Amino acid sequence: MLILAIDTSCDDTSAALLQIEDEHISILSNIVSTQGDIHAKYGGIVPEIASRMHTEAIWPVVEAAMQGRAVSDLSAIAVCHGPGLIGSLLVGCSFAKSMSWGSAVDLVGVNHLEGHLLSAFLTGETPEFPFISLIVSGGHTSLYLVKDYGEYEELGRTRDDAAGEAYDKVAKMLGLPYPGGPAIDRLAQTGDDRAIPLPRPYLPGTHDFSFSGLKTAVRLAIDKHPDQSLENFCASFQRSVVEVLVRKTEIAMRETSVMRITINGGVAANSGVRKGMQLMCEQMGVQLYLPPLQYCTDNAAMIAIAGYYRHRRGERATLDMNPRPYLPLV
Ligand code: KG4
Ligand code: ZN
Repeated sequence: MLILAIDTSCDDTSAALLQIEDEHISILSNIVSTQGDIHAKYGGIVPEIASRMHTEAIWPVVEAAMQGRAVSDLSAIAVCHGPGLIGSLLVGCSFAKSMSWGSAVDLVGVNHLEGHLLSAFLTGETPEFPFISLIVSGGHTSLYLVKDYGEYEELGRTRDDAAGEAYDKVAKMLGLPYPGGPAIDRLAQTGDDRAIPLPRPYLPGTHDFSFSGLKTAVRLAIDKHPDQSLENFCASFQRSVVEVLVRKTEIAMRETSVMRITINGGVAANSGVRKGMQLMCEQMGVQLYLPPLQYCTDNAAMIAIAGYYRHRRGERATLDMNPRPYLPLV
């Protein structure tokens, strides 16, 4: 089987080609064209610019991913149809639908979050079901119980900002460029993570998250501690986020008695999150599945793997499939 997948949910244009032979999965290509530099000028994603950039990038990105293969060689075309920015989603969906209609190749619609959840199946050792999955990105911070392909239970989610969004907004307050996550992560390496007292929003009794109060606390601390270094602010903020993510994942694991964890999404690339989760899992004797960095941030290979399992279950999309900015996973 050969699956082409497309993701244009936010500000990255991505296409990937996945080959499946006797259950063995090979990622033949995974092309990601990022728009980060353009949006950096505005301090965040400008949706109208994102969709225009997708229209320019989609054709060369898909062509590069196809590696000279003909469309008729494909078994299916998987496309992310939500959640995401409506204008951005429209570009990928329209492109995939046209390709499918013009070639009579099967079309499969994939939820972006399902892509993140199943990215643990892209490489190396893969988790057995059930497992706990923490998705931490710029748009989402949620804990799921993954029971099987297509069987997901949401345990909790953020009530306000996603963790990546908090990183981006705090970076802006500190005068750092967009996207803020990698910049804060880098500066945090040389800072004192106990220098500035910040809250830990645990929301006890729920599996939900909340990062907007922490963001406000950083704002107030900037005025209160003008003598503190940028590095100390970054390290103290990162410590707070990491402690909350690690502790809440640990509680979800204990309460469900499911001792396998995967972490996905852009913030899963964070060095503090990776170290903190590794340490907690070692202490608890729990298996941690951390995708390589290129499969943590948005990419089409994760859409391809989710599309493969949907196609295997007999799912086919029709041409009336429309992008949905708030597409729920469960
Ligand atoms: O998964 P992703 O590529 O796109 C979304 O679906 O949102 O995640 C992007 C987010 C941004 O907020 C970015 O600042 C954050 O992931 N991010 C990081 C790091 N790398 C990316 N946050 C913290 N530390 C990092 N190293
Ligand atoms: Zn994402």
